[in-house]
Amino acid sequence: MSYPYQIKSLEAYHEAYKQSVETPDNFWGDIASHFFWRRKWDSVLEWNFTEPKVEWFKGARLNITENCLDRHLDTLANRPAIIWEPNDPAEHHRVLTYKDLHYKVCQFANVLKNNGVKKGDRVCIYMGMIPELAIAVLACARIGAIHSVIFGGFSAQSIADRLIDANAEYIVTCDGAFRGQKDIPLKSVIDDALIGCRFVKRVIVCTRTRTPVSMIKGRDVWWEDEIKKIETLGMTTCPAEEMDAEDPLFILYTSGSTGKPKGVVHACAGYMIYTNYTFVNVFQYKPGDIHFCTADIGWITGHSYIVYGPLSAGATTLMFEGVPTWPDAGRFWEIVDKYKVNILYTAPTAIRSLMGFGLGPLQGKKLSSLKVLGTVGEPINEEAWHWYDEHVGKKKCPIVDTWWQTETGGMLISNMAGITPSRPGWATLPLPGVQPLLVDENGKEITEADEDGVFKGNLCIQAPWPATIRTTYGDHERCRKNYFSTYPNLYFTGDGALKDKDGNYRITGRVDDVLNVSGHRIGTAEVENAINMHAGVVESAVVGYPHEIKGQGIYAYVISQTTHGDESLIRKDILQTVTRIIGPIAKPDKIQFVKGLPKTRSGKIMRRILRKIAEGETENLGDTSTLLDPGVVDDIKSGKV
Ligand code: PRX
Repeated sequence: MSYPYQIKSLEAYHEAYKQSVETPDNFWGDIASHFFWRRKWDSVLEWNFTEPKVEWFKGARLNITENCLDRHLDTLANRPAIIWEPNDPAEHHRVLTYKDLHYKVCQFANVLKNNGVKKGDRVCIYMGMIPELAIAVLACARIGAIHSVIFGGFSAQSIADRLIDANAEYIVTCDGAFRGQKDIPLKSVIDDALIGCRFVKRVIVCTRTRTPVSMIKGRDVWWEDEIKKIETLGMTTCPAEEMDAEDPLFILYTSGSTGKPKGVVHACAGYMIYTNYTFVNVFQYKPGDIHFCTADIGWITGHSYIVYGPLSAGATTLMFEGVPTWPDAGRFWEIVDKYKVNILYTAPTAIRSLMGFGLGPLQGKKLSSLKVLGTVGEPINEEAWHWYDEHVGKKKCPIVDTWWQTETGGMLISNMAGITPSRPGWATLPLPGVQPLLVDENGKEITEADEDGVFKGNLCIQAPWPATIRTTYGDHERCRKNYFSTYPNLYFTGDGALKDKDGNYRITGRVDDVLNVSGHRIGTAEVENAINMHAGVVESAVVGYPHEIKGQGIYAYVISQTTHGDESLIRKDILQTVTRIIGPIAKPDKIQFVKGLPKTRSGKIMRRILRKIAEGETENLGDTSTLLDPGVVDDIKSGKV
């Protein structure tokens, strides 16, 4: 497999960028011509950001799995597509070649069909990181069903919310999932979720942990039994469903600043082209390289850079079931040496947490196969960047700092390994096709730099890239309001950024009420709603504060109903409630019981003040004169956790 559109020099980057902006239709049309289409497009791009309407490769027909699997079979049939490293290093690893993966995807696609799944149906996938997860995802795409993967750490309530929103009648899950020393009972969580979701017709359960499960007659079936049925029926192939370029490929739920998580929808053609293009260019993937993205497929990073980007490029993608610190903090390095990993793509949180273990776990590890390192999900602090560079990359591997979002489908701002310069803490230059703009609160372009020559503003994008969010499932107006209405004719990212005079960007973090905890997005409103479900809670306010490992920690100010009693008990109960409503990732790191919250006369909580107190600032809290009762602030300050 060759990549004629792979950029090989800094000049070529500038040239590609120029073309992508001046003649986007030619630029993306050329790239798309290297893929497999059942029918070519009538137009490359039609769009407006007011509705919004974004249509790439309109009129084209394709199936993404033919691009990820079938088209590689002539030349790459025996190349490993997925290498799977189990949680327990004593267990055997698995290798699925392109031929194997194609076979298994077709097989499971037939299982889905045999269970009534049709094109356009939503299938919820709630599994651990085993190859069957990737197989289930691809099998949905094969038959044109819309997958909605839910991260294995979400609670029954969160699953139910998503099932209802997507009206998903089919579920694929496992008995359980191994993560470090934990054995997470996935099927039993699904059972709880389904108590209020009677519309679910079928649950397909794959065996992994052998945790006892209860199977409901008529609803639940075993993956393995269903495969046997398919074999008995002699169904060994499964023709790929012909999809329209703009048909939805998947829904992935993500948190916003208000309300419940939104179902971000990506479309077949644009998403395929863009994840492939960014994978090949940012990592400078060379045929035969082993690519290890440590994310979970439950997040967008896993969708784009474990499954679709690498497989559409005929790459070898490594899937890891476990956690970086089990059985010890040398696990990533062991995996790198074991499989001679060439590209390692991980989150700053993981780097910071591994840094905390010192250099011991790196001792005796060669890491000599590594060529490219990457980070994603949150700003990387310079200390972590240098540690990664020195101790993992041995100062010979470029580090790509990739900035993007669930809504953007693929990377938007990032250096390209060894092609465009890297700079600690900076995502650097926009990728071809991406036109960022920094604006002030009124949407006016920032044209004045500070004394250091740096521009500072809210980060927007001026025109669509192929993997632009198309809609939020079932509620297009919500999509418009959230992303396209803050500033007319711009996609608003929700992030703040700096730009230097050479056009390099540094992302400073969210400017809305969204937290980024260990690289995972959590809405403050979501956590507050969960805390408020606790019977003893009157009201709460949640803010982020700097956390050494997680990047941001969750700080909750809680007004409790009881003025007496054991605080530590209520604290535990609240944590339990949040775990039950959202999942353990949303558990507050700190809970402070307060008598009142700083509110304006119109009843709005002034989070700015709470944020400052959580950060340890007690003096410069800004203007507090508009507060209904300024006295609560002193009270809160004196009780800071
Ligand atoms: O704040 C930015 C941060 O993560 C947010 C997107 O989160 P999510 O949709 O969960 O996707 C994470 C994986 C793509 C962004 O709004 N973010 C992501 N990458 C970076 C980052 N912040 C700084 N630097 C990055 N490289």
